[in-house]
Amino acid sequence: MADHSYDYDVLIIGAGPGGYVAAIRAAQLGLKVACVEGRETLGGTCLNVGCIPSKAMLHASEYFDAAANGKMADMGIEVSPKLNLEKMHGQRRDAVKGLTGGIEFLFKKNKVDWKKGYASFVDGHTVEVGPSTGSGQAEKVTAKDIVIATGSSVTPLPGVEVDNDKGIVVDSTGALELKSVPKKMVVIGGGVIGLELGSVWRRLGAEVICVEFLDQILPGMDGDVRKEANKIFKKQGITFKLSTKVTGVTVKGKKATLTLEPAAGGPSTGSGQASETLEADCVLVSIGRKPNTEGLGLENIGLETNQRGQIETDHDFRTSVDGVWAIGDVIPGPMLAHKAEDEGIAVAENIAGETGIVNHDVIPSVVYTWPEIAGVGLTEEQAKERGEVKVGKFPMMANSRAKTNHEPEGFVKIIADAETDRVLGVWAIASVAGTMIAEAGIAMEFGATSEDIAYTCHAHPTHAEATKEAAMAVRGKPIHI
Ligand code: FAD
Ligand code: NAI
Repeated sequence: MADHSYDYDVLIIGAGPGGYVAAIRAAQLGLKVACVEGRETLGGTCLNVGCIPSKAMLHASEYFDAAANGKMADMGIEVSPKLNLEKMHGQRRDAVKGLTGGIEFLFKKNKVDWKKGYASFVDGHTVEVGPSTGSGQAEKVTAKDIVIATGSSVTPLPGVEVDNDKGIVVDSTGALELKSVPKKMVVIGGGVIGLELGSVWRRLGAEVICVEFLDQILPGMDGDVRKEANKIFKKQGITFKLSTKVTGVTVKGKKATLTLEPAAGGPSTGSGQASETLEADCVLVSIGRKPNTEGLGLENIGLETNQRGQIETDHDFRTSVDGVWAIGDVIPGPMLAHKAEDEGIAVAENIAGETGIVNHDVIPSVVYTWPEIAGVGLTEEQAKERGEVKVGKFPMMANSRAKTNHEPEGFVKIIADAETDRVLGVWAIASVAGTMIAEAGIAMEFGATSEDIAYTCHAHPTHAEATKEAAMAVRGKPIHI
């Protein structure tokens, strides 16, 4: 398979979940592979500063919250929790260290060479790898095929300067590392990061105010889910300022002052007042992420980005430049680790001459708050734009396991085509919605109807029975409501 006119068969730029998975799969398929990564550890945003550390803090703070807010006492466990934040951070760092080290082990096991430094294209088959530190020499590496998997980074908000070291105006990376619990935290953006990390610090004692540009949180999710999630988070103590934009943040000493205006245009607010100010001990900027293409030398290979700065590909993940492929957050689609991973497998298979496919219509998304919020496929609004639908909904309150576990909030909702009964979308708010949604994904991959789910035997007592009952509700016949 090896083409000896190149150093490698495949070179991957970036070792996030897209890049490292592509590297391992390509090596498994017998190709000679190198992966360039400038960070000191492998695993990209996901393992270093994203999915894993945020889940470590969410999991630990959930226990603290359950002890502090009476949830444990309700089950006969009376405790007065004391926060050891340094230890909580320690277990987060341990999780990251273990998992990033695990990727290094997998690279060695699969004989993937890690080229340390940042890569820039010289031509379509050559990259220059600069040293990741100031010292050392840049190295030219050639490969028959090159995969861009450079991921994404935080979108800056004009007029707002992030300084993670000071811990006053932070992005998600800084918000994972706060040295003390802020008294008052303002989260800019009611998306996934704002709600997950806002939840962490709310649970640990911060007053959290979330400023969202749109008229509802969690854009892109099903309308019912967005409304219900807003209610639940409000009940937990998060304050929302919807249809509002932040126009600037100034820092004086240890305090930040934000200026807010109505999203529709300032300076007067809905109540007719002049633009509002808010004081905070900590401000989290979480208004989205942008693809990483700067410094990649795309101009040297004539590869242009689209208006959103993304690299466009065909279904096989080929860019417009022969031999150059792209996957993950740097290409269009949801910025999710599992999407990047699946694209990593598919691109490696395509490069090896096999058929790698990702079904972008069935990519689940999960918000790891309490309760979790998950969905796959179309929202009810999207489905209705395409034709007539039938919707079945089942409340977690009526699910025996959720009720017994003191987890009554949320529901499962199934959207099916009115004529064919084929499942078009499934949405859930439940303590374990992230796990429950896998069943919906499989059902949709196999083209299931709501009847197929309704007549599949689900173990009792499980939260997943709510999915079966929601499917029964599509035909109006659930048992337990
Ligand atoms: P990345 O993970 O961003 O990896 C790209 C890598 O490329 C980086 O390590 C970077 O250093 C390297 N790189 C960039 N340019 C170069 C270059 N020129 N040369 C060499 N290396 C380069 N997604 C989920 O699915 N579930 C979650 O729970 C979740 N939680 C998240 C929490 C937070 C706080 C954040 C910020 C993100 C979260 N995400 C989550 C999103 C997820 O992290 C990304 O979708 C995923 O990491 C994208 O993978 P990727 O491989 O495309 O890019
Ligand atoms: P996001 O796109 O989820 O949310 C950003 C929010 O900020 C939107 O609601 C938007 O309307 C709002 N906004 C934009 N500009 C604003 C302004 N000026 N003022 C107020 N609000 C403004 O982006 P987020 O939360 O930063 O996350 C980035 C990416 O990381 C997401 O695409 C997500 O897929 C990924 N991620 C995934 C997680 C998961 O799967 N559990 C967890 C965390 C991140």
